[in-house]
Amino acid sequence: MSRLRLGVNIDHVATIRNARGGVHPDPVRAAKMAAAAGADGITAHLREDRRHISDADIARLSAEIDLPLNLEMAATDEMLGIALRHRPHAACIVPERREERTTEGGLDAAGQHNVLAPLVSELRGVSIRVSLFIEPDRRQIDAAKRLGAPVVELHTGRYCHLDGAAQVAELARLADAAAYAAHLGIEVHAGHGLSFDNVAAVAAIPEVVELNIGHFLVGEAIFVGLDSSIREMRRLMDAARTA
Ligand code: PXP
Repeated sequence: MSRLRLGVNIDHVATIRNARGGVHPDPVRAAKMAAAAGADGITAHLREDRRHISDADIARLSAEIDLPLNLEMAATDEMLGIALRHRPHAACIVPERREERTTEGGLDAAGQHNVLAPLVSELRGVSIRVSLFIEPDRRQIDAAKRLGAPVVELHTGRYCHLDGAAQVAELARLADAAAYAAHLGIEVHAGHGLSFDNVAAVAAIPEVVELNIGHFLVGEAIFVGLDSSIREMRRLMDAARTA
């Protein structure tokens, strides 16, 4: 199986910084540490409400880090303008408002076709790799295909919150969606809510080529440091891949 890429989401370093204003802790410093610890990419979500990552963070991440930057963004003209200005390696379109998401939480790619189509095509036009953050649902994958998105990121939030037989069933849904998307020629990423305890089963899905993980890594860093937290995640991902 191919090596699984790890995108480290540094949003919540900015959440802690913003709790007091000022500049500490610096998400760009965290991104550089993540690179040293074995991350393959850096992910940051510039929210419309600027709750964590700021415009200045995106400018600095674009200028100062060597790893590919994956900008998570809502499907708005404002975010499109920012993406076109900074030209990140990738842009993952995520829902921010209730009407943009499915009942489970992923982007409603099927229901939002007319909003998403021009956005996907403008981003692709400047060679930004577009992904859509969707539920592991064939209907949403078909919609992503119609939109010409080269990548989907499967929402693992439900899987992470369930347990027992319900979690096993949700894992099967993730595996089915991953196989279906790959069969259609779409690259498959996954993320949301992943931790040391639940990452292995998702990492073992062969069609998944990238995981984006943030909140748990930053939380665990409080106890063991960011470097150790990322290295342990990397180790668990690699072990699941070779098992
Ligand atoms: N992928 C996407 C598209 C996300 O929006 C998020 C959360 O910002 C993540 C992955 C990472 O989720 P978590 O912070 O729970 O690891």
